[in-house]
Amino acid sequence: MYEWLKAFHIIAVIAWMAGMLYLPRLFVYHCEADVGSRQSETFKVMERRLLRLIINPAMIATWLLGLWLAWRGGWFAAPWLQLKLVLVLAMSALHGVLSRHVKDFAADRNRRSPKFYRILNEIPTLLMIAIVILAVVKPF
Ligand code: HEM
Repeated sequence: MYEWLKAFHIIAVIAWMAGMLYLPRLFVYHCEADVGSRQSETFKVMERRLLRLIINPAMIATWLLGLWLAWRGGWFAAPWLQLKLVLVLAMSALHGVLSRHVKDFAADRNRRSPKFYRILNEIPTLLMIAIVILAVVKPF
């Protein structure tokens, strides 16, 4: 049972991370499309669908399966899990920030540059590297 939970946790994590890395990339290209253009309207649909159909459900599944694993495995007192939880909370906050940008783009209210979104793209990458090392290596 535990191994099955872990397998589905990792599947959910992959889907969540794929979306968290792709969405800021879409924002970079969206910035370069003129407001009202067909391209801009297509980006709006892509961003909304990616957020609603992939990123949101994958984040919920990752949390539920991760908390279930932590409870079943008795990991809550482990320092690696505590630090991992802090970093996953940061990832979830970033998820909230990206959702706000999706809303801004949808209303043609984006005020950020492509460079801003390129830099934003690095944050989920760095968080993901640290989280996976904590989960697999369990250094403390
Ligand atoms: C949402 C809150 C999360 C909780 C409570 C949580 C908790 C856990 C727990 C308890 C395990 C089992 C560890 C073991 O049996 O060795 C695990 C495995 C794992 N988690 Fe999470 N996790 C969460 C989110 C994430 C995220 C966001 C990522 C990646 C970005 C991630 C990546 C992994 C990986 C790769 C494993 C497999 C580790 C292994 O088997 O060696 N988790 N997680």
